[in-house]
Amino acid sequence: MAPGMMPRAVIVGVSGRMGQALVRTACELSDLRITGAVASAGSASLGRDAGGLAGLDPLGVAISSDLPAALAAADVAIDFSQPHATRANIAACRAARKPLLVGTTGFAAQVTEAELDAAAREIPLLIAPNTSLGVALLTELVRRAARALPAQFDIEIIEAHHRMKRDAPSGTALALAQAAGEGRGLAPAEALAGRSGARVGPRREGEIGFAVVRGGDIVGEHTALFAGPGEELRLSHRAADRAIFARGALRAALWLLGQPPGRYAMTDIIHEDQSLE
Ligand SMILES: NC(=O)c1ccc[n+]([C@@H]2O[C@H](COP(=O)([O-])OP(=O)(O)OC[C@H]3O[C@@H](n4cnc5c(N)ncnc54)[C@H](OP(=O)(O)O)[C@@H]3O)[C@@H](O)[C@H]2O)c1
Repeated sequence: MAPGMMPRAVIVGVSGRMGQALVRTACELSDLRITGAVASAGSASLGRDAGGLAGLDPLGVAISSDLPAALAAADVAIDFSQPHATRANIAACRAARKPLLVGTTGFAAQVTEAELDAAAREIPLLIAPNTSLGVALLTELVRRAARALPAQFDIEIIEAHHRMKRDAPSGTALALAQAAGEGRGLAPAEALAGRSGARVGPRREGEIGFAVVRGGDIVGEHTALFAGPGEELRLSHRAADRAIFARGALRAALWLLGQPPGRYAMTDIIHEDQSLE
């Protein structure tokens, strides 16, 4: 990136709810310029202007399905598309040697941890199932609470989202369970137990269960419940507007531009911003 130039970003999944929120927020904040707008090869939005689609004045950026071409004229990629596209998006950023923020969730069946690690040896790669800075702090607080409270405090993750959400539990709920498991010193498998069925039986020692709500236009709610003998602690976050994810993603993309190749999470940004120790 040339010194003094505004960083240039490609938005992947630009025709979606988050893609449009990113375009609107980027224009509002104006510390990052959108130079690429990518949708699927079969998208009804191909050829339209990314600004016009987001309800703004035209940006002069036509929506295309050619990520490699868009990357050639950009400094960083921000992906909020669909899980089936994640592997190809990572490969394109790797080939172009451009940093990538993956905000898409639910791609664990499509891309292995080893593949993510391999990509992160070549480019800065931020996997961010939730780009809200408040949720990044919540994740840290959950890790700390799980470490501090004795094992009699059962941990459950409760989440609620709008009726269109495709994956469940949410990527954020999984990340909170993982943070809680790490705080408790549990292996990931123990930390990710789910629960359903008439004969589920009593709660197993050390399991972290999920409760999932889907309905209406709920933007996103997450609570980590620590239920102990005679007392409960609840750590909660409620998103009221998709713009918080867009603001956090744009800030994270700017941060990512200054990082060497490696695998990053939103909590890395929180750690740099303020000491939690
Ligand atoms: N990290 C966070 O904080 C956060 C917050 C909210 C949502 N999310 C996640 O972000 C993702 C998008 O959410 P959303 O609510 O915006 O969903 P959405 O409205 O369904 O948008 C996703 C868009 O991706 C496009 N798409 C599909 N295949 C593509 C491809 N190969 N290349 C480029 N674009 C492609 C689709 O549009 P076309 O058919 O027009 O191509 C679709 O409109 C989901 O995984 C969601 O869970 C993350």
